[in-house]
Amino acid sequence: MADAIDARGVNVHYGRVHAVRDVDLRVARGEVVVVVGPNGAGKSSLLGALSGLVPISSGTVHLDGADITGLPAQRIARLNLSQVPEGRRIFAPLTVEENLRLGAYTVRDNSRVKTLLEETLEMFPILSERFRSPAGLLSGGEQQMLAFGRALMSEPRTLLLDEPSMGLSPALVDQVIESIRKIASGGLSILMVEQNASAAFGVANRAYILDQGGITLQGPVDEVASDPRVLEAFLGLADDAV
Ligand SMILES: Nc1ncnc2c1ncn2[C@@H]1O[C@H](COP(=O)(O)OP(=O)(O)OP(=O)(O)O)[C@@H](O)[C@H]1O
Ligand SMILES: [Mg+2]
Repeated sequence: MADAIDARGVNVHYGRVHAVRDVDLRVARGEVVVVVGPNGAGKSSLLGALSGLVPISSGTVHLDGADITGLPAQRIARLNLSQVPEGRRIFAPLTVEENLRLGAYTVRDNSRVKTLLEETLEMFPILSERFRSPAGLLSGGEQQMLAFGRALMSEPRTLLLDEPSMGLSPALVDQVIESIRKIASGGLSILMVEQNASAAFGVANRAYILDQGGITLQGPVDEVASDPRVLEAFLGLADDAV
């Protein structure tokens, strides 16, 4: 079976800023992969390069075995790739229901939309409790669930998550990680980028470390998480403390 995502030699430039450097990255079908990197490492640029939101200067991207290099984001979205953007970008004045329905803009069949809505509410019961509330009144954690739900409404096979833990209290981060686990158990392939390494490692199968646009380390999550460089840089543990 083809990989969900197979990116090779991907580069992104913004003028003279070289934001993504020769990145090779793979997400197998049903796998949860995390890219961990500090502020400004190029995480969002990398996701954008995969979803078509950011033009790449060289490299290739395959989605489910099909070459999507250079396709516009709207076309890629119709190929069952969905991205949950950094900062969630829900529409605050619209209700939870309206936000969810917007996620299904690629789904033409109304009865299918209804089924997707039911499935999404079943996965995130809190969203049915808040169904008719303006999304802006939800807590940060609830807004992240809504952002996940909106992405699921487009029937993705592959989901890109940009820093889902951002700005959340530790308790809410746990909730969000639990939701990602739930989504993954449905068989979706998930690529997430995070600064919060410890949260991300808890849910991923494989991990990549991104530093100044380039991959510096990769492997099964247990190996990456126990690498001394990662312990020191991302998990706040100095060598002599382990
Ligand atoms: N539209 C843009 N124009 C110019 N430079 C950009 C643009 N977007 C990002 N950059 C630069 O590219 C580099 C990578 O940025 P990017 O947002 O991809 O990093 P990130 O890892 O997502 O950071 P953060 O953790 O802050 O979200 C940074 O140096 C950033 O300043
Ligand atoms: Mg970012």
